[in-house]
Amino acid sequence: MPTVKTALVTGGAGFIGSHIVDALIRRHIKVFVVDDLSAGSRKNLNPNAVFYKMSVTDPAAARLVARLKPDVVFHLAAQIDVRCSVEDPPQDARVNIMGTLNIAHASAKAGVKKFIFTSSGGAMYPDTLRPPYSEKTPDDPISPYAIGKRAAEMYLCFEHRIHGMKTVVLRLANAYGPRQALRGGYAGVISIFARQLLKKEKTVINGNGKQTRDYVYVSDIVQAHMLAMEKNVTGTFNIGTGVQTNVNALFRIINRLTGAKQREVHGPACKGEVMRSALDARKARRELGWTPKVTLDEGLKKTVAWFQKR
Ligand SMILES: NC(=O)c1ccc[n+]([C@@H]2O[C@H](COP(=O)([O-])OP(=O)(O)OC[C@H]3O[C@@H](n4cnc5c(N)ncnc54)[C@H](O)[C@@H]3O)[C@@H](O)[C@H]2O)c1
Repeated sequence: MPTVKTALVTGGAGFIGSHIVDALIRRHIKVFVVDDLSAGSRKNLNPNAVFYKMSVTDPAAARLVARLKPDVVFHLAAQIDVRCSVEDPPQDARVNIMGTLNIAHASAKAGVKKFIFTSSGGAMYPDTLRPPYSEKTPDDPISPYAIGKRAAEMYLCFEHRIHGMKTVVLRLANAYGPRQALRGGYAGVISIFARQLLKKEKTVINGNGKQTRDYVYVSDIVQAHMLAMEKNVTGTFNIGTGVQTNVNALFRIINRLTGAKQREVHGPACKGEVMRSALDARKARRELGWTPKVTLDEGLKKTVAWFQKR
């Protein structure tokens, strides 16, 4: 990839997006952020980024891309709550499909050198198969959120094949770390447990707590995005540790780290919840040189410390 001087980050006021903005600025890249602040916050925004409060669905956002002509686009702006997508699929599709297409098509026309799309690995594969899932596992998006992410990936394939824009799709497992919001589909468990246990609020585990996820610390997620920008690659990559951790185990670790000493309490299970998930990221290791560096223990310590400071 030739030298990158400018980058646009959509969703750059959100959890993962704001960490990507920080990493780009540390690399002396000029960063533009488009975010409508529907879930993100100005507090997350790096003061050295140029901020446009705007929806990715707005035709003005396409005109902005045409004017800025960034070298690279990181597209993270999205409606991220799976439950909201089930309640209001058209709204999810407006942001996650039409918003992505609006930015991607404008990027292809503007000659953007690389378009990096943050997709979902956690929602993409059928949990009837045994994890970890590789990119070769046939996808089976069930929720409107997953369907939207898959549709957006396919539109990017079109922009690549027909307009020649280099695209990288990163299918993330469950990210966690500082700045993760307490609402939304993924926010779930780690930030909620950390905050509730620190505040000595009653913490309830949904169902039997045996549902597993693959947790990746945010600095490792950022590193995957940086490698996707720097390496001469295109295509789809799973980003995960391959390790499944269940909710009961998370509760026990965070309970210990916060010193809350709460008893494990279980509530009703969430209907239709995926029971197990983990991603096989060997392709990312081979082609991007990516491996997760932060262990769950270290990552949880850093996350709890961040919530403690607040
Ligand atoms: N957090 C995870 O575990 C995870 C896992 C897989 C994929 N992802 C994907 O990573 C991306 C970032 O997720 P996150 O966890 O940082 O969530 P987040 O909610 O913190 O970030 C999303 C950002 O997009 C902004 N946004 C929403 N709708 C917008 C619109 N119409 N126009 C402009 N901005 C809009 C929000 O204000 C927010 O700042 C999303 O695309 C999400 O689907 C996240």
